[in-house]
Amino acid sequence: MEQPSTTTGGRDQFRSRIGFIFAAAGSAVGLGNIWKFPYLAGTNGGGVFVVIYLACVILIGFSLMLMEFALGRNTSLAAVGAFRKLDSRFKFVGVMGVFSAFLIMGFYPVVGGWSLSYIFKTIMGELAVTDAATLGGVFDTLITGVFSPIFWTALYLVINIVIVAGGIGAGIEKASKWMMPALFVLLIILVVRSLTLPNAGEGLKYMFAPDWSKLSGGVALAAMGQAFFSLSLGMGCMITYSSYLSKDENLVSNAFIVPGMDTLVAILAGMVIIPAAISFNFEVGAGPGLVFVTVPAIFATMGPVVGKLFGIIFFVLIALAAITSSISLLEVIVSYLIDEKNMTRKKAVGATSVILFIMCIAASMSLGDWSGFTILGNGIFDTFDKITTFITMPLGGLFISLFVGWFWGKEKAKNEVTNNGTVKFALFDVWFFLCKWVIPAIILVIFITGIPSFPG
Ligand code: PFF
Repeated sequence: MEQPSTTTGGRDQFRSRIGFIFAAAGSAVGLGNIWKFPYLAGTNGGGVFVVIYLACVILIGFSLMLMEFALGRNTSLAAVGAFRKLDSRFKFVGVMGVFSAFLIMGFYPVVGGWSLSYIFKTIMGELAVTDAATLGGVFDTLITGVFSPIFWTALYLVINIVIVAGGIGAGIEKASKWMMPALFVLLIILVVRSLTLPNAGEGLKYMFAPDWSKLSGGVALAAMGQAFFSLSLGMGCMITYSSYLSKDENLVSNAFIVPGMDTLVAILAGMVIIPAAISFNFEVGAGPGLVFVTVPAIFATMGPVVGKLFGIIFFVLIALAAITSSISLLEVIVSYLIDEKNMTRKKAVGATSVILFIMCIAASMSLGDWSGFTILGNGIFDTFDKITTFITMPLGGLFISLFVGWFWGKEKAKNEVTNNGTVKFALFDVWFFLCKWVIPAIILVIFITGIPSFPG
């Protein structure tokens, strides 16, 4: 259903219904699903982490997504402007979101760069082995290096800049549209390959059968933070995207579809990586290198030609999934500068990317030569990651639900999510109750029990 690009009050809009779903799902589905989710499940006790993660998606994710859609669409303004317009006492929530976007964009492109470099490494045949020491060595050499990771990060950032400078319709929408279906298909092929490896059943058990003795405040916070990160919630990203949405869009169904797709991709990625890691006798708790070590080993079992071909497609898709997420992060910052500081899109993108590139260099170097520089025991890369996942995004989610539940008011919320009564939403009262009471309570409890383990 392509329509000509429309503008309201000088603002771009998504050109088709399906375009918004793909852009929002493109933001949600990214490195968080394919790179982070499997390794966090591996380092946080497997099943316990996965169960708490799923509980957070069900109890918090869907509802918070709907809140952000409603706030963005209602105001047609990005996060800061939305709160400024509705209740300026909450403007700090939008500002915290822009801050989060900066911090995430201070390390995310580094990992995006690793995936670009892995496309190249696969083409060059550097990864066609199944032994952990060699694959681990390739990964460590890359991330602790100087020129190579910074070069790939720069290339990754340039791709983002070009797309975001093109604006919502032309750039973001087009890029997201064809990538998601391709990613699904490839993941399903890989799940089949992974689950037919010897001993793969053990991996499924590790991932889905919770061992409750591993439950701790830290694990719960890691799972909740990951749900926020993976769904792009709690920092105004979905407010920003839905500010470009037309008034007749069905927010309720989008708020089901987007978290549903995101969770499916995370679970599929976990089902590719964890059983394979266990089958190859790799360390599941190895951390950030898990995907980059395990997946090449899976491809190596598929034979030189097929393995290489799938390897290239896989890393291209990870890079694309990452790009459709990081452009949404960049858009949070850029639309803030456009809406609040009256900058042109091009100028906003230019100024932002210089700062981000410097942050990314620091984050990348912190994994190698600068690893001695730490803040509360964490290097720069981990500090950017942990502040956002464990602190600013859950707190952002807390304040957004408090705002909708207690300050925006039931009537206004109802009118917005039901398009003034034209969209049916039978669960409205349940949703509003979740916003008002349940979500703030869950976030607070997990936050307070988990935060003492933050520094480690
Ligand atoms: N959800 C993205 C991922 O899973 O990779 C990361 C992300 C994008 C987080 C946009 C936050 C955000 F606003």
